[in-house]
Amino acid sequence: PDTAIIVVAAGSGTRLDAGAPKAFVGIDSHSILRHALDGVFAASPAQVIVVAPAGFEGDAETELRAAAGDRVDLGRVVTGGDTRQRSVAAGLDALWGDVTRVLVHDAARALTPPEVIDAVAAAVDEATGVIPTLPVIDTLKRVDGDAVVGPIDRSELAAAQTPQGFPRALLESAYEAALTAGVDHTDDAALFAAAGHRVRQIAGSARGFKITTPADLERARHMLAAVSE
Ligand code: CTP
Ligand code: MG
Repeated sequence: PDTAIIVVAAGSGTRLDAGAPKAFVGIDSHSILRHALDGVFAASPAQVIVVAPAGFEGDAETELRAAAGDRVDLGRVVTGGDTRQRSVAAGLDALWGDVTRVLVHDAARALTPPEVIDAVAAAVDEATGVIPTLPVIDTLKRVDGDAVVGPIDRSELAAAQTPQGFPRALLESAYEAALTAGVDHTDDAALFAAAGHRVRQIAGSARGFKITTPADLERARHMLAAVSE
């Protein structure tokens, strides 16, 4: 395949606080990582790099095998770093073959529809990054301590999701540049834009929300229960 999907799963899940690294916490009988990989393997064929927490590479391999079925040759597990950016960089280092397009996906967005993954991949071209977004629904305020300083125009804002897709060569050079500059970005689109490249948005999905807190895990459980009823 000319597309690779780097699934970053190396975080500890501090805010979820479930007693295990977040990727290995169960939603139903399957873990967050397994659900994320089921979505990835339901999309068009791609090379899949799973970035696992140190010490959990074997567990990640088990989930990869279960999700990949007979496509297991397309998958590989590597060890992550102590920031998300370092984990993505480890994934980039593990690419092989003639991949020209890279998608970076949070394992924590476990219920992302395969259609969103394919739509992001299809919208990437040799110069442009692509991110799925949702409109911002909440009324937002600019604040300073306890003072409400002013309104924010929601129409200028969007909430970013993953997978975020990029032309491989430009993403790799943008990662080099961030490493040299010593900057730590929380999002690949910000890192890519900081290197001077263009990023476009396409429509994301409500199912692409990130499991961050215990309430998010409950939401994911309800969504899965609703489809199996
Ligand atoms: N991630 C990673 N390596 C890190 C940090 C995060 O691969 N050093 C991944 C997580 O596994 C997750 C995604 O990046 O799939 C988004 O991160 P986040 O939701 O913040 O997950 P955690 O960092 O695990 O959670 P927390 O911040 O609550 O500890
Ligand atoms: Mg985090």
